[in-house]
Amino acid sequence: MAEVSIRKVEKAYETYKAVHGIDLEIADKEFVVLVGPSGCGKSTTLRMVAGLEEITGGEIWIGGDLVNDVPPRDRDIAMVFQNYALYPHMTVFDNMAFGLKLRKFPREEIKKRVDDAARILDLTTLLDRRPKALSGGQRQRVAMGRAIVRNPRVFLFDEPLSNLDAKLRVQMRTEIKKVHQTIPTTTVYVTHDQIEAMTLADRVVVMNFGRIEQVGPPQELYHNPATRFVAGFIGSPAMNFFPVKVTNEGGLYVQWPGGVKLAVPPQRANRYAPYAGKEMTLGLRPEHLTETHDIEKPGVVRIEVPVDVVEPMGMETMVHFLVNGEEMTARVDPATHAAPGEMLPLAADMNNMHLIDNESNKVV
Ligand SMILES: Nc1ncnc2c1ncn2[C@@H]1O[C@H](COP(=O)(O)OP(=O)(O)O)[C@@H](O)[C@H]1O
Ligand SMILES: [Mg+2]
Repeated sequence: MAEVSIRKVEKAYETYKAVHGIDLEIADKEFVVLVGPSGCGKSTTLRMVAGLEEITGGEIWIGGDLVNDVPPRDRDIAMVFQNYALYPHMTVFDNMAFGLKLRKFPREEIKKRVDDAARILDLTTLLDRRPKALSGGQRQRVAMGRAIVRNPRVFLFDEPLSNLDAKLRVQMRTEIKKVHQTIPTTTVYVTHDQIEAMTLADRVVVMNFGRIEQVGPPQELYHNPATRFVAGFIGSPAMNFFPVKVTNEGGLYVQWPGGVKLAVPPQRANRYAPYAGKEMTLGLRPEHLTETHDIEKPGVVRIEVPVDVVEPMGMETMVHFLVNGEEMTARVDPATHAAPGEMLPLAADMNNMHLIDNESNKVV
């Protein structure tokens, strides 16, 4: 069993506080992804779990052991970095076996573990090659193999795919997920890429400025973001944010600049009624601003917008339009007629609206 427990963990670099007392409980075999913009403290957090960075405050537990003062080599973890330096003069087999040899594992055991890992990673036919005779993706698989043969209690990944081109990144993402399905091991994975986070994680941890904004399964973060930051960070294209005023005129409405008034669905009236009269932010994802064929559905409101740019993507088309100088995005059927400079009718699905308090930046 290897649950990881991060309790009130802080990190200060001299006077600069990189991590502000975070709490996170990771279950045995769980795949957790730390995601957030560059500099938000992801690597620092991971390196503290690895023992590569001293912690300024708090406690880290791995598998029921307090490891604050345990050196990295005794934490029974394996780490894969973005820059996975392989030994150029060693074969793939020896690269994968190296850590076990250092730890004086018996030859038979080493061979078994390397062969098993090679099979999982599809490297069996490459074991005699040297790194320079491998593609970028194959090298990355060797780096993972090196971690797998250790059979650690916890895998730690720090942006392992960032150096690969876009296509390979998507392939390797699937590989990593398959490996976790084959050998379910507690994993903490760091990335700045929200799609990587969504696709890999059992639970996503969104970090911002050294704090945790929200923790949850991917779908929950997507559909119920707790803050404006999470709402804007998760999802691509990003959620639209309209400055609105909440009004109560017999029914509840949100009104954006230019006078467009959108009725709030009745089942949300109680939740939003206390904000009547306030300036708030309406969050609506591009896929909830669509062509008008669903217009009869309850909670769906018809609006017209001036089209700025049309981007056909194949299976869908992004339509950008301006509201008070701010660029908004709708995601429509490619058959929809939209042309720059013309007005386009859209269906706004207010059943999926988010209302954000401008002072606290919380979704209410
Ligand atoms: N050794 C260090 N000394 C001083 N500041 C550091 C050091 N390492 C990281 N930082 C700072 O701590 C913050 C978090 O860094 P990091 O955890 O690497 O961010 P991320 O991995 O999320 O991009 C950044 O502002 C970074 O500049
Ligand atoms: Mg980093």
